[in-house]
Amino acid sequence: MTASFRFTMSATDGAARTGTVHTPRGDIRTPAFMPVGTAATVKAMMPESVRATGADILLGNTYHLMLRPGAERVARLGGLHRFMNWERPILTDSGGFQVMSLAGLRKLTEEGVRFKSHIDGSVHHLSPESSMEIQRLLGSDIVMCFDECTPHPATEPVAAESMRLSMRWALRSREAFGDRPGHALFGIQQGSVFRDLREESAEKLRAIGFEGYAIGGLAVGEGQEAMFGVLDYAPGMLPEDRPRYLMGVGKPDDIVGAVQRGVDMFDCVLPSRSGRTGQALTRFGAVNIKNARHLDDPRPLDPECSCPACSQYSRAYLHHVFKAGEILSSMLLTWHNLHYYQELMQGLRDAISAGTLEDFARAFHARRAEGDV
Ligand code: GUN
Ligand code: ZN
Repeated sequence: MTASFRFTMSATDGAARTGTVHTPRGDIRTPAFMPVGTAATVKAMMPESVRATGADILLGNTYHLMLRPGAERVARLGGLHRFMNWERPILTDSGGFQVMSLAGLRKLTEEGVRFKSHIDGSVHHLSPESSMEIQRLLGSDIVMCFDECTPHPATEPVAAESMRLSMRWALRSREAFGDRPGHALFGIQQGSVFRDLREESAEKLRAIGFEGYAIGGLAVGEGQEAMFGVLDYAPGMLPEDRPRYLMGVGKPDDIVGAVQRGVDMFDCVLPSRSGRTGQALTRFGAVNIKNARHLDDPRPLDPECSCPACSQYSRAYLHHVFKAGEILSSMLLTWHNLHYYQELMQGLRDAISAGTLEDFARAFHARRAEGDV
């Protein structure tokens, strides 16, 4: 690991950890939540507003940006940070996962994957080498290995073959990434819900050596109980002194449970996407602002929340702008949801520092059980 990218841990509480990922573009406080900025924007938010919610780092996507506007163009325009006006750290996913969920007609081989763009049907390729090159052109601070997210459910032989392909790709990713001071490459553990495969994957990644390690192939329909079952052992298989990132997770209770099991970083479209569909995520659970019960309600969404949506507007107004199809509805609810997520992460960090994570989790679950009262 280069000196300019390092992870320092300041406290642990059980399996949970809190600390800082230091990068040349700024520190990332962990446990961290990364808002998703797929197409070089966190939808409905100005970058300064995303920062105001407390985000230290954003996630971008190789797949979307290579198709539109194109990685070479972004590079010519000064890189992704300058292009989107976000000067803090950016992590980019490598593209394989998005190809499988979004692209048309795909062909997967040892070399990589050939696919049709979901935008215009044009044919493209991604491989470990081209994914590393695209993420370099974007200027990503944390680059993800090119992998295959094993679909769920998978039989053990199928999951093994998929995981071993991802491990061969991880080695090719490491070699193609080269030596880039200040930039980090994260390996991605696969192995579905099979403990032996998770161990084999972790061993292979540790032998290659990465600046951080992700847990992939979860939150793909296995359910929270099965996911926590894997998280009871998977983080412990990864080097203790490197950040651990659970990809694509999750709901607030998923995050709390994963932090308790030793995960440091998260990303999920849930807070931003729900903000655009009228769902507010709060301390007391999800609130559907579309519901007619809010029509005449002068109270704020959450009186204890200091975000603009809660401190300056009523539930009746939030309901109205949603029903009227106003853009402000997406803006306010996305802001609230991202603010809530970042406040949750701060609460987790503080609780780990104080050694009170169990109490924090108990209070978290109790408040949600009370509901919107
Ligand atoms: N996003 C959610 N899960 C995954 C995964 O397994 N691999 C990658 N690259 N991205 C993901
Ligand atoms: Zn709020």
